[in-house]
Amino acid sequence: MGDQRDGFDYDAELRRYQPRLIEAMAVGNRDTVVDIGCGTGQTSRAAAGLATDGSVLGVDVNPVMLERARRLSDGLENLRFDEGDAQVYPFPQGFSLAISRFGTMFFADPVAAFTNIRRALQPGARLVQLVWQSGDHQEWAHAIQGALGGTVPSGGAFSLSEPSTVDGMLTSAGFTGITVTDVREPVWYGANPDAAVDAVLALQMGSGAATQPDALDRLHQVMTKHNTDDGVWFDSRAWIITARTAG
Ligand SMILES: C[S@@+](CC[C@H](N)C(=O)[O-])C[C@H]1O[C@@H](n2cnc3c(N)ncnc32)[C@H](O)[C@@H]1O
Repeated sequence: MGDQRDGFDYDAELRRYQPRLIEAMAVGNRDTVVDIGCGTGQTSRAAAGLATDGSVLGVDVNPVMLERARRLSDGLENLRFDEGDAQVYPFPQGFSLAISRFGTMFFADPVAAFTNIRRALQPGARLVQLVWQSGDHQEWAHAIQGALGGTVPSGGAFSLSEPSTVDGMLTSAGFTGITVTDVREPVWYGANPDAAVDAVLALQMGSGAATQPDALDRLHQVMTKHNTDDGVWFDSRAWIITARTAG
């Protein structure tokens, strides 16, 4: 389980996606890897464990996440983290692999951001990213927003949900060989309904609506409905999108 006692635990939520992404990343022992929007760094640590003769740089705009990332990565000599906005961050040159687990969906100007990332990669390098499919396909988003009286947005976390749009963005940014793979795994919100409600509050979904008592009651009912012997699970769908730089 991730160490996010006072925040949302992405490692726990995404535990069924993690092996799918690791497989797609196919990190080689000499890869030089950049993890975009690395958060608390679980994917960065996984890459560092595989790139034993290479290195990993995790970049994120959020210093609180990075502080946790560094604390959790103590002893991994080939891994470092830096604070920055991937849209404009002055990446060192020559990475062989760029990875991201749900960290590329929040760019104001995605073409500029992916161009900046592409420039940091060597010829023939790979980009492997996990992004959400449309909010319409997310049981978790519908259930939670429904309980909070909100609607599922089309932008934000779902901004890279349309493959033809992403193909256009990546092509404009100078990438080639774009592939899109449909990945469907459940997401985990907590060991029981109380914990799952706390997780949503930590995530601040619904812009404060969850603090209203009736909304909290509805949220608890939703979490109870989705509770199993193994905690609270919702269906979800993502894309693994890969691309490469011209070789
Ligand atoms: C959904 S979280 C995923 C974090 C991490 N990749 C994981 O899977 O645990 C999205 C992350 O993207 C980061 N982020 C958002 N916009 C960013 C940007 N422009 N540059 C760098 N990081 C960004 C956020 O701070 C956050 O840590």
